[in-house]
Amino acid sequence: MNKFKASGVGEAINRIDGRLKVTGMAKYASEFPVENKLYAQGINSTIAKGEIISVDTAEAEKLDGVLAVITYKNAEKLNTFDEEMPQLSTTTIAPVLQSPKVNYYGEFVGVVVAETFEQAQYAARLVKFEYKQDSNPAIDFDESRSKAYKPNENSDYFRGDMAAGMAEADETLDAIYNTPIEHHHPMELHAIIASWENGKVTAYASQQMVEHSTIAISDTFQIPKKDVRVIAAYVGGGFGSKLNTERHAIMAVMASKMLGRPVQFTVTRHQMFTNTGMRQFNEQRMQIGAKSDGTLTAMSHETLSHTSTYQEYQEPCGMMTKMLYDVPNSEIKYRLIPMNFQTPFAMRAPGEATGSFALESAMDEMAWKLKMDPVEFRIKNDTQIDLSENKPFSSRLLKECLRIGADKFGWENRNMKPRTKQEGNWLIGYGVSAASRRAPYRETSSKVILELDGNKVYATIQMDATDIGTGSYTIIAQTAAEYLGIPVEQVTVELGDSLFPLTPGSGGSWGAASYCNGARAACLNAISKLKQNRNIGKDEDIAVAELLKTNNLDKFEAEGTATPSEEFKKHSVFSFGANFSEVWVDKDTGMYRIKRMVNVGSAGKIVNPKTAYGQIIGGLTMGAGMVLAEQTKVEPNFGNFITRSLADYHVPVNLDMANIDVVFLPEEDKIANAMGIKGIGELGITSVAASIANAIFNATGKRMRDLPITPEKLI
Ligand code: MOS
Repeated sequence: MNKFKASGVGEAINRIDGRLKVTGMAKYASEFPVENKLYAQGINSTIAKGEIISVDTAEAEKLDGVLAVITYKNAEKLNTFDEEMPQLSTTTIAPVLQSPKVNYYGEFVGVVVAETFEQAQYAARLVKFEYKQDSNPAIDFDESRSKAYKPNENSDYFRGDMAAGMAEADETLDAIYNTPIEHHHPMELHAIIASWENGKVTAYASQQMVEHSTIAISDTFQIPKKDVRVIAAYVGGGFGSKLNTERHAIMAVMASKMLGRPVQFTVTRHQMFTNTGMRQFNEQRMQIGAKSDGTLTAMSHETLSHTSTYQEYQEPCGMMTKMLYDVPNSEIKYRLIPMNFQTPFAMRAPGEATGSFALESAMDEMAWKLKMDPVEFRIKNDTQIDLSENKPFSSRLLKECLRIGADKFGWENRNMKPRTKQEGNWLIGYGVSAASRRAPYRETSSKVILELDGNKVYATIQMDATDIGTGSYTIIAQTAAEYLGIPVEQVTVELGDSLFPLTPGSGGSWGAASYCNGARAACLNAISKLKQNRNIGKDEDIAVAELLKTNNLDKFEAEGTATPSEEFKKHSVFSFGANFSEVWVDKDTGMYRIKRMVNVGSAGKIVNPKTAYGQIIGGLTMGAGMVLAEQTKVEPNFGNFITRSLADYHVPVNLDMANIDVVFLPEEDKIANAMGIKGIGELGITSVAASIANAIFNATGKRMRDLPITPEKLI
């Protein structure tokens, strides 16, 4: 748009914060050198349900350096839930240590605060709790089935007449797919350094959404939001686990208030299993009806999941099923079982990551029943209207993703009949799946500070956005460079401080679209103000340096806000994609290798192909992890998790990953937003598991409906 453009939107530049990160200069929450700080260590319950009847802190308190042992007996009084089972997604508070009640194994029941980390850790082991155990905790999914209820969150949805649609079908499918409890495990542990001074809180915290975190702290402690400052300049991954402000953070703030010194609380990797969210077990029943020519007549998706006994969270597993295909009759249902585990929460592509495993496996099963090519079956049932909302899609290139992917992958070499492609002891299979992910865009503000140095303009962009490893810093800099017409090297980006203009933070794949459009708004505002001051026409193309000079300014600031348009609201805005996988299965051992993956995405304007590529391969890896290994196992007697470290909760490593080809279709979705950007953070994980499971079927003839697909299941 600007002839002075040097390096802007669309270029595959390196991360502007890359050097800071690899040299250790980028400061993460627990690395701030806050003076006089204390260390907190959380204590976890050792029963799944019951009550604390006594606490013995004497031994711990005797230790050198120990300043406090805080339990429900001496904790600060916090704002607590005023209704039963509040919805986690709308809850702003995180009460902790408010009662002797224990809701699950591993729940925080106390915190030790000491001069050093080691003292706190040692002392925490010396605190003795006695419990009155409830003999019947809900820790077994099957035994708890009778308690299933209809949740308030994500209500049931009906379209047309499901029974009639099934009745007119030539082929029907009724199958159940299971996905296990999974954990997010970002590299950086959840951490906070909180400081309470004169009724005001400053917190360096590893959070995805800065403003949300200030609200959580202010609401929990009932202090004004303006008295809370949250800083999250660098965040080492989140995957949803850092959307909320968790209880360790609240305990750190509380301890600082009680002791009058800053307190650092870094949760342990162990505690990342019990105290910072997880994806719950889902049992998904799919029913599909289709005519023999492949026309879908009916589709139903019922999800049975669990929540905690104190809060409601329902993963929207039926999201894709509701809108992906042209099917007139549809039912989406949710049921929840309250169980004695922590409240599950959003994990990368909540709804799609798990829901797509059921939907896209079932579509593959139906294609096989119909003896249709699964790519053609999907294309036949494509729609340009979101039937669940009766809105057109802002853009939808799903068919193109499937066709281009099939071509790149060499899909024509696939044998329709399973177990017919072999090489030595290997059975070779190809699988496909379609993907969609809502591409939200939320009101975002930013500030630009322009400084003139000779003939060069330097710009600083400030916003409370976060970069959770996604590349926010870089794409915001590219946007500013583009709209100011200056080289990206002259742009500085400052993020993650609640003193900066408000953004929705990083979550739900809305980051790129929101942040970039917000930064653009500030830059365009600055230019238009500088022009107005000198009565320069808005369309005149004058370099920012000249504008500052004509205004006799060597510094100028402007703010701007980008807001979703009316057009945005009239459309369904989604990103789309297709996954193709080739899997080799050892006939005798069931061991398998993912050999190749092709991912084609239609996600609007790609601001930086390099960081975008990183997002997609990260998503593909996490999707492969769902199939290969990831599962959190519950110990059946006490309700603890057996898999409690990265030694036994397995995630893919480089050797597990395939030769990956990522393609973005050239696209700009101007209905989505002014810059035409859609989200990709969650698109990459969506339906990957199904494409691999479908390839395993094609290789072996075995239909795998339970994740993960470990080798013993294939023998
Ligand atoms: Mo995401 S699961 O909204 O970080």
